[in-house]
Amino acid sequence: MLVVRRDNIVLVGFMGAGKSVCGRLLARRLGRCFVETDDMIVASQGRSVPEIFRRDGEERFRELEGEMLELLRLKSGDVIATGGGLPCREGRMEALRALGTVVWLRGDLSELRARATRSGDRPMLAGRSSADIEELLRRREIYYRQAHVSVDTTGLGPDEVVARVMTALREHHAARV
Ligand code: S3P
Repeated sequence: MLVVRRDNIVLVGFMGAGKSVCGRLLARRLGRCFVETDDMIVASQGRSVPEIFRRDGEERFRELEGEMLELLRLKSGDVIATGGGLPCREGRMEALRALGTVVWLRGDLSELRARATRSGDRPMLAGRSSADIEELLRRREIYYRQAHVSVDTTGLGPDEVVARVMTALREHHAARV
């Protein structure tokens, strides 16, 4: 029987938390492969994320995220960055926790928002007021909070975030043995 060791590092958090940038850097530091659920979806559909939202709607995108979650069960030892909304459905945090150690990159909302609007086209932010975005974050925090560890990214650059993630992972694993 094939037994896959689920020792991945899974990054979750709101848009703009730095999951992609820090995940890629973390993978490089640890000599691991980097995987991003948005990239998996784009590769499988041959279309960009905004295009999928525009043509098929959010619900279809969430279904695709569920399919990628299934595929992630084949991964071991990787650093995995998830889309900001992927963990926020019934049972999804449990599924992510089963893949390895889940790290929540948290941050101050204004900073998250500034970073998110700076980099890339985010359909979930388009046309939403600040109050709506804050409400979305509050609703999602219930899920993100179920991560094994959390790291506050407020005011930090990618190198500092990665250093803190590595410390948090070391402490988490030390506490378990
Ligand atoms: C989304 C976040 C995006 C991407 C999609 C939906 C969300 O990923 O999956 O636009 O619902 O928060 P990032 O968190 O990498 O921006």
